Order: sequence, then C-alpha cells, then structure tokens
Amino acid sequence: MQAVENFAPRVLAWFDEYGRKNLPWQENKTPYRVWISEIMLQQTQVTTVIPYYLKFMQSFPTVEALAAADQEQVLAHWSGLGYYARARNMHKAAQMLVDEMDSEFPQSVEAVCELPGIGRSTAAAILSISRGVQAAILDGNVKRVLARFHAVPKWPGEKQTENAMWDLAEAYMPSSRCADYTQAMMDLGATLCTRSKPQCLICPLMEDCQAQKTPDPTQYPIKKPK
Ligand code: ADE
Repeated sequence: MQAVENFAPRVLAWFDEYGRKNLPWQENKTPYRVWISEIMLQQTQVTTVIPYYLKFMQSFPTVEALAAADQEQVLAHWSGLGYYARARNMHKAAQMLVDEMDSEFPQSVEAVCELPGIGRSTAAAILSISRGVQAAILDGNVKRVLARFHAVPKWPGEKQTENAMWDLAEAYMPSSRCADYTQAMMDLGATLCTRSKPQCLICPLMEDCQAQKTPDPTQYPIKKPK
C-alpha cells in the first residue's frame, strides 16, 4: 500500500475547522488526565463519558489519589460505563506508577505498554496528545479510515494486514502537530467516516479515498472471513 501525499495536512486543516477542542480532557493535558480519558473512551462514546470523567477527576485528581483509593470506590465511579476490567487495570496501573515509577508517566510507547490495560494504540494516543510524542495510533476509528482510504483488500484483524496498516499509520504521522493529528484522526473516524453512514461528501480525504470510488464504501474494512 502506497502512502499518499498531503494526507496529514488535509486532516489537520479539517481538524482546525471542525475538530472537537473543548472536551474536559482537552484542558490541562497531563498524561494522567489524558490516560483516564482514553481508557473511558475505548468502548464508550464522548457524550456518555463526559460526566463520568468530570466526577472521576474530582474524586481522583492525581495518580497518587487514584493509587490510594479503594478498589470499591474506583469501581463505583465506573458504574454504568461497563467493561469493568478497564477500571481494575487502571487502578492497578496507578499503583504501579506510584510504587515503581516515582509517579512519573513513562516516556516511550514500549514502556507505557507495560502498564496493565494499555496497548500500543492507547499508549501512542496518550503520549502524542499529552506530550506531543510522534507516535502513530491505530484504534478502531483510525483502522476504518485507513482501510477505506486504501480500500484495504483484507480483514484488518489478520496479523499481516494489521502490520501493513500500522506502517501506513506511521507513514502518515506528521513530524509536527502530533497531538492535533492524533485527535484529528479519531474525530474523523468518529464523526465523518462512521461505520454505517460515512459522510464522504464533506470528508477532506474524499478525492483520494479508494473506497469512495466503489459502489459501497461501507464494505470496508473487509469483514472477518467466516
Ligand atoms: N476515542 C478514543 N479516544 C478518543 C479521543 N481522544 N477523542 C475522541 N474519541 C476517542
């Protein structure tokens, strides 16, 4: 798959005009605050997350406060969000950060991935958004954008295809404005390049999108073979 010129500038120009910039976790973007938001947003929509996030930050404003809390108390703040393993892993990770890492969030994707509940894409999202690190993300939203843009002919759940998509994600990551680019790709996938009703006509990538040239762009990403 050949990377296309001008991908990031187009995505960033779109973000400047239409991206979301006033969400609670976009204020005071410390690794801790961004981390909690990314975990909550993994399986839950932005509008649902907002009140949970605000309450969580009130009760546990720092990684030290989270580490010191009882598990019961942390889970109570999760009540209604579902996927409770996320909260348990987060609590455990906070204790590891405080007990073993001097409460300092690690600086590299590899090191962040050592924390329970944080995979490569989430680690890259936290580091790019909170510290401007040039690290590519490939979450469900971004996978969908890239699978459509390149009309990737295979199911992205297959290792080889996933690796090729990581290569694309890295090729498109710009060397400046890394934080905005990460947020822009998530917003593009969440708001325009949606699973069942993509708004291709107002997408900044439409001209070069290979799926858009097919009768049904929603055929991409290709589904898991039975
Ligand atoms: N999904 C996961 N992380 C997100 C973020 N930072 N913004 C919007 N949707 C997301």
